[in-house]
Amino acid sequence: MNKHQDGAGYFDKVAEQWDAMRRTYFSERVCDLALSEAQVQRRKLAADVGAGTGFITIGLITQGLRVLAIDESLPMLQVLRSKTLGVADLCLCIGSAERLPIRNCVVDYVFANMCLHHVSHPAAAIEEMARILKRGGTLIISDLDSHAFEFLAQERTDRWLGFKKSDMRAWLAQAALKDVTVSDTGERAHVPSASADACADISIFMARGKK
Ligand SMILES: C[S@@+](CC[C@H](N)C(=O)[O-])C[C@H]1O[C@@H](n2cnc3c(N)ncnc32)[C@H](O)[C@@H]1O
Repeated sequence: MNKHQDGAGYFDKVAEQWDAMRRTYFSERVCDLALSEAQVQRRKLAADVGAGTGFITIGLITQGLRVLAIDESLPMLQVLRSKTLGVADLCLCIGSAERLPIRNCVVDYVFANMCLHHVSHPAAAIEEMARILKRGGTLIISDLDSHAFEFLAQERTDRWLGFKKSDMRAWLAQAALKDVTVSDTGERAHVPSASADACADISIFMARGKK
């Protein structure tokens, strides 16, 4: 685990560049896999936690879902808004993953792509994601496997150097989710260091649980 003191401002600063950065870090296929793992259906309501500039949100809208996009960074949500002007079925909410500004049992799906490793208390965030799901709803978390690239904590404000699949399984079970699976996606994240001659190469997992 790594705690970084200046996490809040990092995404505010890189918001305008995030889409270009993200494209070099991991592929669009991560979104396709997440939506397919959830077997999303048109007109259902999804929450995208740590939505950022809308990598998952825009995939969901394209497939005809209604979306609540939640993020603690206003600049990230402003970029998302600029890309979705005129989209009626999208609500942008400023809020914390550990205290979601959403009532109990209202959404059909919750997605969190590459958000959890920035959160102080991942188990608490997972409890929150489970809380807002309707009975029968599905949680999908896509994130980094446990790794040793310490520079991500210093340069990118990652609080966690990825996660062990066993911890993910335990946290989803603790949140009373059923049919929990945590699997390899076959996808990888490639993130270069800004200062050192190094590039992180990390496998991406997908966790799924049902309420
Ligand atoms: C690596 S970006 C991923 C953004 C988007 N999900 C994607 O895949 O492109 C992480 C996002 O999580 C947000 N974030 C980090 N910690 C958060 C928290 N505790 N609550 C809500 N959002 C958070 C950041 O502001 C940022 O937009």
